[in-house]
Amino acid sequence: MSRSAHPAGPRHADVLTEGHYSAPPSDLNALDPKVWAHTVTRTDDGVVSVGGVEVTTLAEEFGTPAYFLDESDFRARARAWRTAFGHDADVFYAGKAFLSRAVVRWLYEEGLNLDVCSGGELVTALSAGMPADRIAFHGNNKSAEEITAAVRAGVGRIVLDSFQEIVRVAHIAQSLGTRQRVQLRVTVGVEAHTHEFIATAHEDQKFGIALADGQAAEAVRRALSLDGLELVGIHSHIGSQIFDMAGFEVAARRVVALLAAVRDEHGVELPEIDLGGGLGIAYTSDDDPREPHEIAKALSEIVSRECEAAKLRTPRISVEPGRAIVGPTAFTLYEVGTIKPLEGLRTYVSVDGGMSDNIRTALYDAEYSVALVSRTSDAEPMLVRVVGKHCESGDIVVKDAFLPSDLAPGDLLAVPATGAYCRSMASNYNHALRPPVVAVNDGEARVIVRRETEDDLLRLDVG
Ligand code: LLP
Repeated sequence: MSRSAHPAGPRHADVLTEGHYSAPPSDLNALDPKVWAHTVTRTDDGVVSVGGVEVTTLAEEFGTPAYFLDESDFRARARAWRTAFGHDADVFYAGKAFLSRAVVRWLYEEGLNLDVCSGGELVTALSAGMPADRIAFHGNNKSAEEITAAVRAGVGRIVLDSFQEIVRVAHIAQSLGTRQRVQLRVTVGVEAHTHEFIATAHEDQKFGIALADGQAAEAVRRALSLDGLELVGIHSHIGSQIFDMAGFEVAARRVVALLAAVRDEHGVELPEIDLGGGLGIAYTSDDDPREPHEIAKALSEIVSRECEAAKLRTPRISVEPGRAIVGPTAFTLYEVGTIKPLEGLRTYVSVDGGMSDNIRTALYDAEYSVALVSRTSDAEPMLVRVVGKHCESGDIVVKDAFLPSDLAPGDLLAVPATGAYCRSMASNYNHALRPPVVAVNDGEARVIVRRETEDDLLRLDVG
């Protein structure tokens, strides 16, 4: 198994042997509620619906490929996180997973805060009315313009990522005549992905300031000495698609140890710690994610226990789930175009999207599920690889799956759990037009991000 650092995302390729796939499911028409949005169901006529609208109607009205997002599921998951963490903690939705103005409004209404990591995300959040003090600004190389915009807007916190940034933010805040609330992002020497975590030397990455060699302690010293900054806490983010709480446990212990060292050296008890995001979701029936209340309980117990041992007041905890809120709430709807059977091997099923709307399979070897959703079928299962329409053989949407052997061009396929890091990482490769995001709720569907048009492409190309 490779143990090399991976920037983000699942590491299924390392965990599963080449060509791995489960046995065919006993019922190809069944929809596992673990991987589908809450309101997804198969109606009596065999067509799948979401939010009370059948996918055949959605395809007709909005075209394919398209992402369909279950609004009530999104709100329910956001609320579940908020409720689980209660009033003594804050939940910052990580906008990088998927951000649009409608989503910002839902988050605001459900009482969540927002983590942004670029000027573009900041502008989206502010333009949808998220109060600046509920926004945290992240990034390992924020530009002076981005820092200025964030300080001017009055964001609740900027997460400082480097020694240079401590000085940059302090200088900008001071020149704007203000004092910026900041957290310091530290790398705790833990890297976690899916079911594994490694607590060794994972300071070998671009983010944050290492706890090792007293670097974080030095960063605290500098941040506390600068008038433009109000240092309120320490931040740690350990990875993506994590199921095992052990990595968080080690991270929390190390962050609390830093808080104790800061108290001993400066007589200051920093009031906040942020444990980042990274909580896993089910992409296939094999994944077993934890519920928000279990995660909240585990994290607050770890932090309280460590603080008690260090005789510190328990700081206010915050977390930054992105994928765990939006991931399961959407699916991508595709139409089958061509089908290429390879005797004794597998059948290639080409759909009308691909790596431009879901890069995760190509980039991370991510696993996905897929289902025939425009009808039911009693045909025998066939092993398929669902591929896109791009000029590249790595353009794979679902590497190994079973679909009914009577699958035909014109059938609709849906890939669930594509709410996170699919539209937000979509590209125009091959001049593909990025698909729309359509929110469905209570029998109504409305576009929240429209489909790109050829005019959009040509408008950017100034000739
Ligand atoms: N907070 C910080 C500081 C982060 O860097 C991230 C994700 C999150 C929160 C949210 O993590 P989540 O709960 O969504 O896992 N493109 C990759 C994921 C990159 C995550 C980067 N940082 C993927 O598709 O798997």
